[in-house]
Amino acid sequence: MGKDVIIACDFPTAAQTLTFLDRFPERKPFVKIGMELFYAEGPSVVREIKARGHRIFLDLKLHDIPNTVKKAMAVLSGLDADIVNLHAAGTAEMMRAALEGLTRADGTRPLLIAVTQLTSTDQNALEHELLIDRPMDEVVLAYAENAKNAGLDGVVCSPLEAGKVHRRCGSGFLTVTPGIRFADGEKGDQKRIMTPAQAKIEGADYIVVGRPITAAADPAAAYARCCAEFTD
Ligand code: C5P
Repeated sequence: MGKDVIIACDFPTAAQTLTFLDRFPERKPFVKIGMELFYAEGPSVVREIKARGHRIFLDLKLHDIPNTVKKAMAVLSGLDADIVNLHAAGTAEMMRAALEGLTRADGTRPLLIAVTQLTSTDQNALEHELLIDRPMDEVVLAYAENAKNAGLDGVVCSPLEAGKVHRRCGSGFLTVTPGIRFADGEKGDQKRIMTPAQAKIEGADYIVVGRPITAAADPAAAYARCCAEFTD
């Protein structure tokens, strides 16, 4: 899989999601399905979108004891998602168990990537609630390295961190980056942002783009603009 734009389909129902995806008749975009849609509609929404020819990043961020995560990953593997994820904070043992669960009888599996620290966690919460007494950058890179050593394929990170992650973990270790906005677009609630063109320069492998495409007057044109900036 090469560089690509992933559309974050943050819609509450399958019907709204499918109506939205009908607007892309030519090139079927790679889509991200998160907890809201998955919990509302269940596995059938993944099967339906997959059957329509889209690739899927199933963003469920698993974090539990290794045996539970292994079994849950085996179920997700059967849904034929292309990328799934978990929290690196679950430990290397949990990440290795997840890989085992994901791997099908024929040896194939979806890509598995890790969340290092949520971008909603700031330095203050890191130190005073999670009791991790290190700079955020150092924690993110150390967790990325743990994920790499456990055999994972990459991490979700800010586009501002993509270069650092590649320098620490190698250029083949995937960086999947949300927080993307057009230069002339609304920032919304995202604080640390980059344009698709800047994310390309930073070396991000996949950009996850939600509202700049889903809330655009012409989503297909916004998607084409993202692809032109990031992949061409
Ligand atoms: O609409 P927007 O482009 O901000 O959507 C970005 C998507 O990426 C959302 O689904 C959001 O939950 C997700 N995300 C994020 N920042 C992270 C991790 C995930 O924005 N650190």
